[in-house]
Amino acid sequence: EKGGYPHFMLKEIFEQPDCIHDCMRGRINIEGTDIALSAIIDHKEKLLHAKRFIIVACGTSWHAALIGKYLIEKFCRFPVEVEYASEFRYRNPVINPGDVVIAISQSGETADTLAAVEEAKNKGAFIYGICNAVGSSIPRATHTGSYIHVGPEIGVASTKAFTGQVTVLTMLALTLAREKNSIGNEEFRQVVHELSTIPEKMKKVLEKNDSIANLSQIFTYAHNFIYLGRGFNYPVALEGALKLKEISYIHAEGYPAAEMKHGPIALIDTEMPVVVVATHNNQYEKIISNIQEIKARKGKVIALVTEGDTTIKNIADFCIELPKTIPCLDPLITTIPLQLLAYHIAICKGKDVDQPRNLAKSVTVE
Ligand code: F6R
Repeated sequence: EKGGYPHFMLKEIFEQPDCIHDCMRGRINIEGTDIALSAIIDHKEKLLHAKRFIIVACGTSWHAALIGKYLIEKFCRFPVEVEYASEFRYRNPVINPGDVVIAISQSGETADTLAAVEEAKNKGAFIYGICNAVGSSIPRATHTGSYIHVGPEIGVASTKAFTGQVTVLTMLALTLAREKNSIGNEEFRQVVHELSTIPEKMKKVLEKNDSIANLSQIFTYAHNFIYLGRGFNYPVALEGALKLKEISYIHAEGYPAAEMKHGPIALIDTEMPVVVVATHNNQYEKIISNIQEIKARKGKVIALVTEGDTTIKNIADFCIELPKTIPCLDPLITTIPLQLLAYHIAICKGKDVDQPRNLAKSVTVE
């Protein structure tokens, strides 16, 4: 049942190219030139008149929500708020008619997310679900939605569900932008085409598995880790840190890289590994100076870079080279090495990656 892999988590990490392909099936045409997410088309009148979007979720799904905010704002120019479902539901949130609430949940059973959906529905919002488990409670409680179709996720630490959620959010933003005319034809075609190439690029990333396993052995001593990213890769930093905490029990924190100088930089010393998502995008120069700030304080830098990068190779301690894509799709590529890093560090430490202590696959308590 683990398909020859030692753990479900590793199997699910390696399934991602196929999962993303399945997620896009019937939604992106074969030529890679058009996208249609049927729930968006069916409800376009409601969605195009939205005053704002609020995305509610917990944990890894909340990290996907942050990426969703950037995508919907970029392509559709709607205001988007992202909320922890637990905080949203307990404070009598302000919801007006015309608000659209997107609920993201792999299991479709998370108690706080379900309660947030009920609360928003009672206050008149239109509810859109993004879930994996077909027929689960959250999809049944929503007005419409899109399944991510990545198959059952058994490993407690969420992996393929995250990339599936980000893929659906990308298709959602692009379909809506097309309906709203807030995206040009050229940009639309470029992003759709690039999205259709992501499964092949993910396969290239997975070829790095052995080198990431080797790298992981070096870091089992660490008691702390910092993860940094900017823009679309800021939520990836949060997700990388969460994966490490969950399965290796190493304390890790993710930050938007520019926040370092507002406090966390005080933590940097020779014992502090810092993982920096430093692929080519419009904030590349800024991320180089962030790396220099860490090196000046003798932190150990593990950088995720774009293939062919030479600048960062000269300053970082370790580099993982990744295929190039456009900034808004980078999370689909950069998340994978961080999943593998967490997995291998946990394995080196002898931890049970599929059943980490204190965690359950779906949190049906409040
Ligand atoms: C992290 C993880 C949890 C879940 C969270 C939400 O690896 O598995 O943080 O992401 O409990 O679960 P769902 O998406 O099922 O609502």
